[in-house]
Amino acid sequence: MASGKSLGEKIRNIASSTPQATCEKKSLVSIKVLVNVLEEKKLLPRRVFEEMAAAATALSSVHGAMALASAAGPVATLSTFKSSPPSLVLKSSISGTKLKATCSKTHASIISKEQTRFVPRCTATVPSSTSSKSLDSVVEDGDRVYNFAAGPATLPASVLKQAQADLYNWRGSGMSVMEMSHRGKEFLSIIQKAEADLRTLLKIPDNYEVLFLQGGASSQFSAIPLNLCTAEETADFVVTGSWGDKAYKEAQKYCKANLAFTGKPGKYTALPAQNDIKLTPGAKYVHICANETIHGVEFKEYPDVGDSVLVADVSSNFCSKPIDVSKFGIIYGGVQKNIGPAGVTIVIIRKDLLGHAQLQTPTMFDYKVHADNKSLYNTPPCFTIYVCGLVFEDLLANGGLEAAERRNLEKAKILYDAIDGSDGFYKCPVEKSVRSLMNVPFTMQTMELEAEFIKAAAAERMVQLKGHRSVGGVRASIYNAMPRAGVEKLVALMKSFHAKHSS
Ligand SMILES: Cc1ncc(COP(=O)(O)O)c(C=O)c1O
Repeated sequence: MASGKSLGEKIRNIASSTPQATCEKKSLVSIKVLVNVLEEKKLLPRRVFEEMAAAATALSSVHGAMALASAAGPVATLSTFKSSPPSLVLKSSISGTKLKATCSKTHASIISKEQTRFVPRCTATVPSSTSSKSLDSVVEDGDRVYNFAAGPATLPASVLKQAQADLYNWRGSGMSVMEMSHRGKEFLSIIQKAEADLRTLLKIPDNYEVLFLQGGASSQFSAIPLNLCTAEETADFVVTGSWGDKAYKEAQKYCKANLAFTGKPGKYTALPAQNDIKLTPGAKYVHICANETIHGVEFKEYPDVGDSVLVADVSSNFCSKPIDVSKFGIIYGGVQKNIGPAGVTIVIIRKDLLGHAQLQTPTMFDYKVHADNKSLYNTPPCFTIYVCGLVFEDLLANGGLEAAERRNLEKAKILYDAIDGSDGFYKCPVEKSVRSLMNVPFTMQTMELEAEFIKAAAAERMVQLKGHRSVGGVRASIYNAMPRAGVEKLVALMKSFHAKHSS
């Protein structure tokens, strides 16, 4: 807690000292919650939200109501509306985001006429989701490890806590998200909010569809040529690592796939200059992998593809930084690294590219079918989409993608500086200008040393550091949800391990 009373307590105090009479006289009562951002600045915005959600739940419970919390920011105006059905609205004065609590029963039937104050039994109804732990303290508590896995990967602790709180009874609906009809109003509100928040985060233009699909990014390796090319047409591939290579090989089944560049001779440690890319005139699209998860190379600027359509696999750097969507025909990626649990692949596609699928395209691979059905052509992975939505809310509450990029740059610098400053004890093979902010591969002098390091890290509860089986070495994946403290702890171990082995 930053100082003194928690936000929840402040809200409850103000609420409990507000005469009910006022509430009944005016049909709308605004209770100004005077929370100074500076005073509270040590709070994670998610915590503030959780506190507000708790307070909303607490207050609405006074009215026999159930709270339906969504999102808020650090400074809030709390209002109770005497409406039918009654609801509570928390509005952030910074972001304008509203946290709405709807009530299951009517105001009047619950509040007794004699009751003159909000009763302070609010405290008793604060749900278990209102953990006051910050992300780092959750890890340091010992109940969580620092997970450097490449995917499925670590998720924000606050998102997991929220999912835990919602698991049994999603916001008063009486059911888990796992039990909901994908066509019911509850799930529709979840998927629509997830899409809206992703559109806000990535500033997705209106002429793009957002699809929540299944089958992994690997399915898109076939779906993309099937949707964008005929069998006789050409697609260009800029191959800068194993994933781009897989996309290239799969496309050969459905179109003329041309290798416009391959970084294989250089062991995928660099990216091509524009002149190195041999584009085919009239190619239907040019495929790149924006961040090669295994080799740790990341495009900082994207190739100029002229009149062709740029298609990017962003599986391992999705939502790690802002991206100009309008430069691309398709951006796609599995969510299991930066966005949510495995099971969903997000495809962001320019609308004019829809409706040209090859005749034999399986219905489930036809983007137009999914666009026409708002990603509900068949049963979607509802729970995964719901968790993705929580992650989007969390990113928005923490300053959006600009802030995410700042945090990612800082973390990556800490780690690359430690590697480069180790007098060659640790080596990152990737050319400095194209090093990934997300996946940091490094090697040591022998495989035995690497194995010992990985073991020492695991003993300190830092896990999943083994490099991909195809390249070996060590790989630290430091996605959005990896706290800076996790990277600092890894670097501390690297230094002590180096000291131990240099004598
Ligand atoms: C860059 C990239 N593309 C594609 C894939 C394949 O994704 P999926 O397992 O969702 O098919 C991965 C998986 O790690 C990846 O890192």
